[in-house]
Amino acid sequence: MKVLIATQKPFAAAAVAGIKDILVKGGHEVALLEKYPEQADLVKAVADVNALIIRSDKVTAEVLDAAPQLKIVVRAGAGFDNVDLASATAHGVVVMNTPGQNSNAVAELAIAMMIFMARTQFTPATGSEVQGKTLGIQAFGNVGRLVGAKAKALGMKVKALDPFLTDEQITSGGAEPVHTLDELYTGSDYLSLHIPALPATIGSINYELITKMPKGATLVNTARKEVIDEAGLEKALEDRPDLKYVTDVMPDNYATLQDKFGLRVFATPKKMGAQTAEANVNAGLAAANQIVDYFATGNTRFQVNK
Ligand code: 3PG
Repeated sequence: MKVLIATQKPFAAAAVAGIKDILVKGGHEVALLEKYPEQADLVKAVADVNALIIRSDKVTAEVLDAAPQLKIVVRAGAGFDNVDLASATAHGVVVMNTPGQNSNAVAELAIAMMIFMARTQFTPATGSEVQGKTLGIQAFGNVGRLVGAKAKALGMKVKALDPFLTDEQITSGGAEPVHTLDELYTGSDYLSLHIPALPATIGSINYELITKMPKGATLVNTARKEVIDEAGLEKALEDRPDLKYVTDVMPDNYATLQDKFGLRVFATPKKMGAQTAEANVNAGLAAANQIVDYFATGNTRFQVNK
């Protein structure tokens, strides 16, 4: 089978080498499309491929239409909001992710961002310490749990909200369970978002929620840009000069936010939460193994469009 690794934001070289090795040993042919400037390049490159490994690359209906031989897409990572799942299903294409494989990298970035903001973006201005503060975690999945464990080691109190988990599951993950957004936001000096971008969550972090946060609080977003109501965020920062926002990746109104709020906001220009050599190797190799296994045995354990 021909497997295309299509990554606008390339994997580390060690990950690419490892992926190729697994696929070639599994009897497959490998093609590489990195840093492609246009979506049209991806559409062109899939014409004869049977499998696709991607990161945040967009697998749209147009891509799927252009790939008549395609059987499987593996998103090397957690979020699959970049894949048109309905269209993939209609085309008979299996879509998988590699849950947990890049979570530690994202969790480390969330902690780093918290401290970066607490220490006024490493300027000489007097900062504050995270020890003794309360961290609220919205969605206690692979990343949320790791953020919680690291925050506890820093002496923070950790609370988590996750409607898909029982109190026991949250407690055993090391956090105090909370049951409403109101409780989470009003009680968190730091609020770390780990929700996926879904119709129900897009734009859901709005003015009303953000302004519930206590004096001096910081909202940390290593989830998805789309979950923030950007106009609501801007108004919240305007009405509450004590609040801060830090995010991996830049909101559309970032230039305005920087002009208006200076060191109270920070955004990475390109999503970098999972951009470590370790995460690239973990997620990339898992993707390659899942493809080899799928073609050899039909294993669909990580399929997300069932
Ligand atoms: C994910 O969903 O796994 C992360 O957001 C990482 O995305 P990336 O592979 O584009 O860096």
